Amino acid sequence: MKSRHISLTKHFTGPVKPEYFQTGEADLPAPKDGEIQVRNEWLSVDPYMRGRMTGITTYIGPFEIGAPMEGGAVGRVVKSSAEGFSEGDWVMSMNGWREGWTGPAKAAQKIDADLLPPQAYLGIAGLTGLTAYVGLKRIIDLKEGETLWMSAGAGAVGSAGIQFAKAMGAKVVASAGGQDKCDFCEEIGADAAVDYKAVPDLKKAVKEAAGGGVEAYFENVGGDHLEAALDVLKPFGRIAACGMIARYNDEAPAPGPRNIIQVVGKSLKIEGYIVSNHFDMQRDFIRDLSAWMGAGKVKSRETVHEGIENAPKAFMGLFSGQNTGKMVVKL
Ligand SMILES: NC(=O)c1ccc[n+]([C@@H]2O[C@H](COP(=O)([O-])OP(=O)(O)OC[C@H]3O[C@@H](n4cnc5c(N)ncnc54)[C@H](OP(=O)(O)O)[C@@H]3O)[C@@H](O)[C@H]2O)c1
Repeated sequence: MKSRHISLTKHFTGPVKPEYFQTGEADLPAPKDGEIQVRNEWLSVDPYMRGRMTGITTYIGPFEIGAPMEGGAVGRVVKSSAEGFSEGDWVMSMNGWREGWTGPAKAAQKIDADLLPPQAYLGIAGLTGLTAYVGLKRIIDLKEGETLWMSAGAGAVGSAGIQFAKAMGAKVVASAGGQDKCDFCEEIGADAAVDYKAVPDLKKAVKEAAGGGVEAYFENVGGDHLEAALDVLKPFGRIAACGMIARYNDEAPAPGPRNIIQVVGKSLKIEGYIVSNHFDMQRDFIRDLSAWMGAGKVKSRETVHEGIENAPKAFMGLFSGQNTGKMVVKL
């Protein structure tokens, strides 16, 4: 089987450009003992991948230039030399950015495509959903009746988080770029949504939408959003620092937030986290998600690009808000 893949031409800072990506092709070997061959059907593109493109090691190393990049993928087994895996099985792996792969079966996890659409395992039922769940349950410890501000509310983590927070009995104010995205946030349960691109004063708009202030802020954006949140949070407010996408393409560290002193005066708690350090919550997550889905409280939505050649375009779209729900690539 032949497989096309995407690799980087160089490590870079600043805005993501199409010329930083190239398409290659490889002949996949037949699986050896303990291996499977998989044809990927859905790929995930995620903001954290941007960090792996800078060439710097953070909590995860950089992508290797010229080698197929890694990322979430779901696909079907086409050949198996591994016990417990048969032709046709749906599996999830980190062998994304490519049409197929041959490798150890232990790199794959079986998924139940009768229970949920397979691409949902890259979104709400996968690491995206777990990220929102960990942020709300463990980092913020959101309580019934509290008010949460969810930034990037129409995105993958944000839209999962809005629905989970509502299912947990909280009031939710979302922010997102554009009226359509705000409508979507309200459609999935947000009590109010603020179009951060349209309002002259984000802090004032969120405060008004929240009816005074919020107990918790879910940070996906950074920059002006974080600065506004420090003002909107009530005393003893909590921030789950999940991501700061507005900063990922910066060429130099940005100053601010100018009002960081609010952390002291209001006794705010800010805690960052990386989902992979919280896999112990997976069982609780699946239990709660199943219950919420069963009760019709949680739905998933994707923005879909088609074909491996469009994976870079899908990825770049994350930085200009081209997605509502999870950005995925269908092969
Ligand atoms: N800590 C972890 O383990 C972990 C795991 C997964 C994700 N994350 C983080 O969670 C956040 C959301 O990730 P996701 O996968 O769900 O992506 P996403 O929200 O589906 O997509 C990114 C969204 O960010 C918004 N955005 C992009 N540039 C922006 C800017 N300059 N200012 C304001 N908003 C901007 C856009 O929405 P608008 O159109 O509304 O601007 C865009 O749709 C990211 O920061 C990501 O790094 C963290």
